[in-house]
Amino acid sequence: MPIPKAELHLHIEGTLEPELAFALAARNDVELPYADTEELRKAYLFEDLQSFLDLYYGLMAVLRTEADFEELADAYLTRAAAQGVRHAEIFFDPQAHIARGVPIGTVIEGLSRALDRSEERHGVSTRLIMCFLRDESAESAMETLRAAEPYLDRIIGVGLDSAEVGHPPAKFKEVYEAAAALGLRLVAHAGEEGPPAYITEALDVLRVERVDHGLRCVEDPELVERLVRERVPLTLCPLSNVRLRAIDMLEEHPLARMLDAGLMCTVNSDDPAYFGGYVDDTFHAVREALGIGQEQLRTLARNSFEAAFLDRNAADEEL
Ligand code: HPA
Ligand code: ZN
Repeated sequence: MPIPKAELHLHIEGTLEPELAFALAARNDVELPYADTEELRKAYLFEDLQSFLDLYYGLMAVLRTEADFEELADAYLTRAAAQGVRHAEIFFDPQAHIARGVPIGTVIEGLSRALDRSEERHGVSTRLIMCFLRDESAESAMETLRAAEPYLDRIIGVGLDSAEVGHPPAKFKEVYEAAAALGLRLVAHAGEEGPPAYITEALDVLRVERVDHGLRCVEDPELVERLVRERVPLTLCPLSNVRLRAIDMLEEHPLARMLDAGLMCTVNSDDPAYFGGYVDDTFHAVREALGIGQEQLRTLARNSFEAAFLDRNAADEEL
C-alpha cells in the first residue's frame, strides 16, 4: 500500500500520456509531428527546462474541448489514487490554451467535471491553482486573472511557471497583489533553474506561502536558515530535476540533506507523463537512490498535508 500523501506540484498538462495525446489528436483532427507513441517518447530527452517546455506546449495542441480536459484530469486522478494521493493541488496553464484559441472557460469547466467527481470516484480531494507563464508579460498575466474572475470559486490560488531565468518574480508583483486582494492563495516556481535570489524575491515581493521547487536554496546558507525558521514549504520534484538536468543524477539530489537541515520538504511529480514517474514512483526512487528511510518518507507525507491548502482539521484527519 502506498503511503497516503498530498501532491502539491503537478501540472495537469504534464500528465498528458502519449497514448491519450494520440487518441485526442485523432478525435480532434490534429496532426502531430511524431509517427506514433514510441517516436514521441523518444523525443523525451531534454537538455534543460526550455527544451522540455517546447515539446510540452507543442503537444497541448491536442487539448481542445471540455471533454478533453475532463479526460486528462480523470486519467491523472485515477493514477494518483493508485499512488496513494488523497489530496491534489493541480496547476493549469490557461495562457497556453488561450493562445491556441481555447477559452479559459473550456479549460476550467472541463477540468472541473473531473475534479467535482474525484472524491467520490477516486477518494482524492482536489484544488486548482492557476499558473501565469512568466515568459509572457505581466499585462498578459493580469488579463488572465481578469478572465478567470467568473471562475474564482473553482480556483484556490495562483502560481508562476514556465521559463524561469530572466523572468524574476518581481515582474509579477502587481498581479500577485491583485490575486491576494481576490482572496487567492499564492505560490510560485523559484530556484529551479533560477538563482536563490529568486526564492527570496518570491517570498518578499510576491508574498508566496510555498515555493515550488526551491532546489537552489541549498546554495545560500542564510536563505536555508530563513526557510527553516519560517517553515516555508518547498514542493520538490526530484525526477523532474534529473530529467531537466538541474542535477546530473538522482543520487546527487540534495533532498536528504535538505530534510536533515530541517527544511519543510515535500516530494511531487511535476510533469509525470514526461519525467518517468508519478508521485509514489518518486518516493520509491528517492528511497533507493538516496537511502531515505521510512521515518523520512513519513515526514515527507506529513509535510505534504501540512503544506496543503486544506483547513487544519482536514489536514489533521489525513495525518
Ligand atoms: N518548471 C517551470 N514550468 C513548468 C514546469 C517546470 O518544471 N513544468 C511545467 N511547466
Ligand atoms: Zn513545475
